[in-house]
Amino acid sequence: MAFKPYKIKVVEPIKLLSRAEREERLKEAGYNVFRLRAEDIYIDLLTDSGTGAMSQAQWGALMVGDESYAGARSFYRLERAVKEIFGFKYFMPTHQGRAAEHILFSTLVKPGDIVPNNMHFDTTRANVLAAGGQPVDLVIEDAYDLTTEHPFKGNMNVSALETLIKEHGHEHVPLIMLTITNNSGGGQPVSLQNIRAVSELARAHKIPFFLDACRFAENCFFIKEREPGYAQKQPIEIAREIFSLADGMTFSAKKDAIANIGGLLAMNDEDLYWRCVQKLILFEGFPTYGGLAGRDLEAIAVGLYEALDEDYLRDRIGQTRSLGEHLKAERIPIVEPIGGHAVYIDALRFLPHIPQREFPAQALVIELYREGGVRAVEIGSTMFARRDERTGQEIYPKLELVRLAIPRRVYTQEHFDHVVETLKKIQERRDAIRGVKLIFGEGPLRHFIARFAPL
Ligand code: F0G
Repeated sequence: MAFKPYKIKVVEPIKLLSRAEREERLKEAGYNVFRLRAEDIYIDLLTDSGTGAMSQAQWGALMVGDESYAGARSFYRLERAVKEIFGFKYFMPTHQGRAAEHILFSTLVKPGDIVPNNMHFDTTRANVLAAGGQPVDLVIEDAYDLTTEHPFKGNMNVSALETLIKEHGHEHVPLIMLTITNNSGGGQPVSLQNIRAVSELARAHKIPFFLDACRFAENCFFIKEREPGYAQKQPIEIAREIFSLADGMTFSAKKDAIANIGGLLAMNDEDLYWRCVQKLILFEGFPTYGGLAGRDLEAIAVGLYEALDEDYLRDRIGQTRSLGEHLKAERIPIVEPIGGHAVYIDALRFLPHIPQREFPAQALVIELYREGGVRAVEIGSTMFARRDERTGQEIYPKLELVRLAIPRRVYTQEHFDHVVETLKKIQERRDAIRGVKLIFGEGPLRHFIARFAPL
């Protein structure tokens, strides 16, 4: 039996609308679940970002938040946690992860530059593009094979990275990013060996190496579980080793700090820090609060340690794994191995009769709400297809996924049983499911606002 390291103190009511009501809401939302009202959703697996349940220690910490504009006690408490866990010399709070990305990329990236990553997530990619850069995904080939067992499918293809640096010249690669865990590719971890190899290559070419560390604690757990030599190490020790290999990080506190809002930008380079501080003050706030309230800084400081707790991580990753195993038992095609924060369904195998131009993953997201009031998110052609500027052709992503993201400490087994039941029912009638047509929305962030029409 799994050990559950918490019990429930506060509850939030949810309800399941009737099928007719759900159909009506879908229509009103233009068949884009981002446009639904949250109160019309029964089980919300849209994201694990900012949707976790804070602990009593975090709620308690809110009350001692110091709301001073400058030099707040809460900043220094967060600083202690950041130094102890990540170890970077300089850091600044931001209102969330994408603000850290914006500040960093707009400072380092010049038009025409290349930014390699194992895989960029949506806002990361869009922020590189907004700075005039070109985001390049260099995850290992195994990441695209959704059924093979590989312990670290988030790894960077280091030889491809080396080739890219040689081809473009290190002066056109202003930084190297590595996302732990790899969200766009199934929530897959990156090994310490791979992080070390990327770090060495970056140092050899004098290119700053930054981690997109949103789900660093989950990545640490996978390293402990799967990488030889780490079984006896605590997650926090693994974290320190990871971050000692990097020159800085962007971080969303809405993930592995179990806070509802917040982010961090950290680095070792003093000159870069001061250049980023200019932007921070302009766009976010004074360096000791950076777009957050003092109480948010407190919640993050506490949450960072909770996210590294081994019992918590075992339960967290165990929950995701259990949902994945149940779906697998029902022959629902999922990405394997099962990732840390989410189970990803392979829409190309689930709905093989729908071509990518008719958005099969989006069609399945719609069915999840229609059938069971479950909200998931499309990580496929709505999010990542783009038009080739020279040929005018639409280029579809290799992966067409539906992500069932698990909010931290929120749902119980019964909720997940409902998700499995919902997918079973959809599977029984899947041959009759049709694709959709995009009728509104363009650009790299169109998925947030798009509208569709059923075909
Ligand atoms: N990097 C990764 C890997 C992410 O998953 C996210 C957010 C961000 C950066 C940006 O952080 O939301 O605080 O601005 N991902 C969320 C998701 C939204 O649903 O996966 P943010």
